[in-house]
Amino acid sequence: MRILSRIALLSLTTAAHAATVVYDFNVSWITANPDGLAERPVIGINNQWPPPRIDVQVGDRLIVNLHNSLGDEDTSLHFHGLFMNGTNHMDGPVMVTQCPIPPGASFTYNFTVDQPGTYWYHSHNKGQYPDGFRGPLVIHDPKAPFEYDEELVLTVSDWYHDRMSLLQPRFMSKYNPTGAEPVPKSALMNDTQNLTMPMVPDRTYLFRIANIGAFAGQYIWVEDHTITVVEMDGVYVHPTETNMVYVAAAQRCSFLLTAKKETSRNFPIIASMDTTLFDTIPPGLNTNVTSYLLYNPTAPLPLPTPLDTLTPLDDTLLLPQDNLTTLPSPDQTITLNVTMNNLASGANYAFFNDITYVPPRVPTLYTVLSSPNSSSSQGDLTTNPSIYGTYTHPFILSHNSIVQLVLNNLDSGRHPFHLHGHQFQILHRSAADEGTWSSSSSTPDPNNSNHTAAPMRRDTLVVEPNGNAVIRFQADNPGVWLFHCHIEWHMISGLAVTFIEAPSILQQTINLPADHLAACRDRKDPIPFEGNAAGRGGNSKDLSQWLVLDGQPTPPKPIPAGFTGGGIAALTMSCFTGILGVAVVAWYGFSEPVGESNTAAAAGVKIKSPAAAGESGSESGVYTDVDSAGKSASVVRVKRGTEAVESEALSFGSEEEAVNGVGMVSKKGDGVVVDVDAITRA
Ligand code: C2O
Repeated sequence: MRILSRIALLSLTTAAHAATVVYDFNVSWITANPDGLAERPVIGINNQWPPPRIDVQVGDRLIVNLHNSLGDEDTSLHFHGLFMNGTNHMDGPVMVTQCPIPPGASFTYNFTVDQPGTYWYHSHNKGQYPDGFRGPLVIHDPKAPFEYDEELVLTVSDWYHDRMSLLQPRFMSKYNPTGAEPVPKSALMNDTQNLTMPMVPDRTYLFRIANIGAFAGQYIWVEDHTITVVEMDGVYVHPTETNMVYVAAAQRCSFLLTAKKETSRNFPIIASMDTTLFDTIPPGLNTNVTSYLLYNPTAPLPLPTPLDTLTPLDDTLLLPQDNLTTLPSPDQTITLNVTMNNLASGANYAFFNDITYVPPRVPTLYTVLSSPNSSSSQGDLTTNPSIYGTYTHPFILSHNSIVQLVLNNLDSGRHPFHLHGHQFQILHRSAADEGTWSSSSSTPDPNNSNHTAAPMRRDTLVVEPNGNAVIRFQADNPGVWLFHCHIEWHMISGLAVTFIEAPSILQQTINLPADHLAACRDRKDPIPFEGNAAGRGGNSKDLSQWLVLDGQPTPPKPIPAGFTGGGIAALTMSCFTGILGVAVVAWYGFSEPVGESNTAAAAGVKIKSPAAAGESGSESGVYTDVDSAGKSASVVRVKRGTEAVESEALSFGSEEEAVNGVGMVSKKGDGVVVDVDAITRA
C-alpha cells in the first residue's frame, strides 16, 4: 500500500516536484535612470531596481514576504493573472481583498501556483506600480506543449520621469478637464534600452513578453524573423506564425523564434508604443524601444527600419491548445457601458454604467467575511449587493454559473480590460467604431469560426474605440474579483467593477492571517475590517445597520445640468479679454465628437466626448488656457441657464508646470482661438 502510493506519487512528480519558493521583498525608494534621460526615485526591491523576476514551477507554493520600507506610502502586491483559487485574500488589490500595507509593516503572500505561463506582479495600491514596483513572474511548465532550447523573458514598459504622487493629482484635477493622460517619457525593454541578446545559430528561443507598463500598448516585431506565438496570458495556443504582436498594458505573449544559421548581422527587436492612446505626442518623444538579437558582436547594431503600417496578429483568432469549446449559454449577462465624463470637482472620471469606482471603507472581501449569513436573524446578507456599497459597483455571481460580459466602449480610446481570478473566452470583438453590441447579433460570433468552436481565452482583452466585445467565463473561483481597465490612469479615474463570486463559500473557506488584519488595525488611520462598505454593522449588535450605507465613500456629485454654446462664446470672449496670445483652448462635455476641422483639433488637442451616447443635452464647457508668458493659466467653467462663469487664474513657477498644470503638453503662443460657434452642437 505504502510503496504503491509512493510510486504513484513519484511518477506524478518526476517532471515537476512541487517546491516552496520564498522571496523576501524589502520595498523602498531608490534612484534609477533606465532611459538615460532622468534620474528619478523608483520603488526598488532589496535595494535593487529593476525588480527581480519571480520564477516558479507549476504546482509550487510561492511565498512573498513583503516589508514596506517606503516610509511615505502604503503598498500591496498583486500577482496578475493568477487564479488564487482558495486564496482570494492573497490577490493583492487594496480595499478589495486586503488593507493597504502601511510603512513599517510586513505582510506575507502565500499561495500555490497551479497554472503555467507568463505573468507579472505589481503593486495594486492605487496608481503605485508605474513608480517601478512591477516585474515578471514566470511559471515554468515541464509539460509545455512546445519545444525550445532557451528561454528569454522580455518586459516592455512605458516610463515616466515623475513620481505618481505628482502625476496623479495633476491627472485627476479640474485643470485637466479632458482627462488627458500623462504621456510617457520613453519606452523600456527589461527596464533598459538597447539591450543585446546573444543568439546561438539555429537555436530556438522562447521569448516571454510581458507588458508591465502603465498605459501604452506596444507593437512588437523582430526584423527579418518570423515569430510563432504559443502562449497568451497563460493560455497555450496552437502555434501561430506572425510578424508582429500587439501587447497591451498587462497582457503577455510568448513566441518561439529560431535563430538564423548565418551570423553576419544583428537584428533589431522593436517595441513601439501605441500612440493612438496619447492625447498629444510631445516633440522629441521616442515612442520606440529597441533591443538586438546579437549574432555578431563585432557587427553594427542597425537602426530599425521605420514601418508605414503596423499590422499585428489578431489575438481573437488564436485557438487555445486545449480546444476548450464555448461555455454554455450564460446564466447571467452583465452589460457594461464605458464612458468618461466630468464630475462637479471638474476632474474627468471613468464610468461603467455611469458609476465610477470608489474604494469602500472596509475591503470588500472583509465585508463578505464578516456579513450576516443564513444562520443570522437578519437572514443571508452575503449575497445582497447593497452591503458592498454603490461605488464598488458590485455584482454577485453564483458559484459555477456561466457569466457573460457585454462590453460597450463608448469612449474614443482603446481599453485593455482585465478580470482578476479568471481567464475568459472571447466570443466577439468588434472593430473600432462599430458601436454597441446588439443582442440580435448572435454570439458566438458566426463570422469567426474560432469563436464558434474553441474561442480564445485570456485575462486581459483590448476593446476598440467605440467598439464592443462579448466575453464569457465560469464563476468557478469563489472570491472578490476586480474587473477593470488596466490603463493605470483609468484605474485611478474609476474604471472598475467588483465581482463577488460565491460569497457564502468564501465565508466558509477563508481565514485571514494575523498580518492581514494588522495591516488594517496597526496604522495611524485604522481601517475597519468588519462591516459593510460604509463600515457599519461590523461590531454592532444591531444587524439592521448592515443595510445602512450612510457614510460610504462617494465620488463627487455630477456637474449641474445645463450649458449652452452661445453662452460659452460670449462668456469666453469676456473672460479671456486681457489674456494675450491664447495658446490652446480645450473644451469638453458636448455630446457629439467635434469634427477634425475645428481649431482645437487643429491645435493638436484631442477632443474627447465623455458624455454617453444617447445622453443628449449635457452640454458643458470648461476652457483651459495657458498665457503667452507660460506662467499662468485660466480655467473657465460655464453653466447653461445660469450664465454663471467660474474662472480662476493660476500661477506656476515655470512654463512646463503651467502646461502640465492644465493637462496639456502643447504649444503656446500660436494665437489659436477656438471658434466657439464651430463647436456648438447642432
Ligand atoms: Cu494587473 Cu487589477 O491588475
